[in-house]
Amino acid sequence: MSTVLIKSKDKALTLSASSALSELDGYRLIFCEDDNSAKSRLDEVNVDLILYDVDEDDFGPDNALARSRLSHTACWRIVICEKNEMSCGAQLCEDTASYLYLAKPVQEQQIRIVVKRALEHAELSRRHRILSRELKLSLDDEIFNDEEGGSVQGGVSRFERLVYASPKMAEVVAEAKVAASTGMPVLIRGETGTGKELLARAIHFNSDRVNSPMHSQNCGGVSDDALYSELFGHMRGAFPGAIADRLGLFRAADGGTVFLDEVSEVSPHFQVALLRFLQEGEVKPLGSDKTLYSNVRIIAASNRSIEEMVEKGSFRRDLYYRLRGFQLELPPLRDRTDDIPVLTQFFVEKYAGVVGRRVLGVTSDVLKRLEYYPFPGNVRELESEVQRMVAVAEQGGYVALRHLSEKIARTPIENGEDAAFVPSGVTLKDKVEHLEQVVLTKALEAFHWNQSKVAEELGLSRVGLANKIKRYGLRKG
Ligand SMILES: Nc1ncnc2c1ncn2[C@@H]1O[C@H](COP(=O)(O)OP(=O)(O)OP(=O)(O)O)[C@@H](O)[C@H]1O
Ligand SMILES: [Mg+2]
Repeated sequence: MSTVLIKSKDKALTLSASSALSELDGYRLIFCEDDNSAKSRLDEVNVDLILYDVDEDDFGPDNALARSRLSHTACWRIVICEKNEMSCGAQLCEDTASYLYLAKPVQEQQIRIVVKRALEHAELSRRHRILSRELKLSLDDEIFNDEEGGSVQGGVSRFERLVYASPKMAEVVAEAKVAASTGMPVLIRGETGTGKELLARAIHFNSDRVNSPMHSQNCGGVSDDALYSELFGHMRGAFPGAIADRLGLFRAADGGTVFLDEVSEVSPHFQVALLRFLQEGEVKPLGSDKTLYSNVRIIAASNRSIEEMVEKGSFRRDLYYRLRGFQLELPPLRDRTDDIPVLTQFFVEKYAGVVGRRVLGVTSDVLKRLEYYPFPGNVRELESEVQRMVAVAEQGGYVALRHLSEKIARTPIENGEDAAFVPSGVTLKDKVEHLEQVVLTKALEAFHWNQSKVAEELGLSRVGLANKIKRYGLRKG
């Protein structure tokens, strides 16, 4: 259903429009006689197209057409003018970035075709916007031939853009698929970089809201007023600097999804507004006394435990219950090391493709170090590590230990086998010395036998380290 606002006093024109654009053909028509009533209707409803029949006093800088450019960014405009005022019509069309202008008399058939074409164009440009946004991510799809979240190659699974192999992630994805099929709010918890936003997008794209927009808003570090106007919109003049009306994400995403990142950070005062929206779908733009409605699914994310905040009294319990229709927990990467090899391979191929380089993969000792490193920044940190390694790796070769960043190369690797391989019946002193040798060997390898770095890492003097190397007869392999 497309909503067309027709602003005209001309009876012949409104008649032609109503017979050209019938409800049966999927049009909802809103008629207004003058510019002011057009502006106030625009504040209330989401309009797809404006047919604007120009009167003499409509040429001001703040007419409904000009305003809609800022408040209804996806709305298209058509100017209609008298035959003897075509140059004014053309100018208005230009100034307000309208699609085209028509001179009267306008035939019914003409309206039908022009409106249809304009809306087709609007749809194409909407899709183009979405596709451009997705383009970066779609590079991912070239790497794995995605098949509906199924297993793709060698135990690798995908859920939209999420790549995983661990049973823990498989569990989260299974829950997320159930959540997607309902319209309920979802609360995603997870440390930074664990893929919360990616999961939120996957849920949106697997829900029946897929053809409506998804908008994201970070709630952290934003003042209440700024957050309010981002989400609920504002009217022109509501505060200094509000030079135009703003629709607000809740209304812009009507029928779709809004992703609220860092939702734990909203103030107690703002929590009330959010709760009202979740309960009633009420949207009251800043500076407006009208209450409007929007049907939006909320997916919220937090890297803090909201449950604990509720216990401490810093987050409203009622809002928490509303948000967590479904509650999903993304485990930190260090707790799902099975994902590290597949993510590494995925990012190697992705970034090798980006820089146009052939990289065969990573060596097993690199993988081992990645598996032992605790990744405080989770998948984001792994992604940027791989991106950097691919950039410095040689054409046609493997990513090897020398390409690893120092902090990861320095990670101690507890080699269970080595440590256990101590002949039985030996004294504690022998066992400790054996372990010392293992630690020294690993550290020397990790730092490519740079003895100053190894000494610093192990808290030894250079001479102390040199003595131990000599005593154990360690040699560069
Ligand atoms: N399972 C995954 N498969 C592929 N890429 C992933 C995966 N998880 C995370 N990423 C990538 O890691 C980066 C961080 O992901 P995302 O932004 O979704 O994390 P986040 O949890 O929202 O982080 P933050 O808490 O910092 O906002 C992104 O570039 C994303 O593409
Ligand atoms: Mg995020």
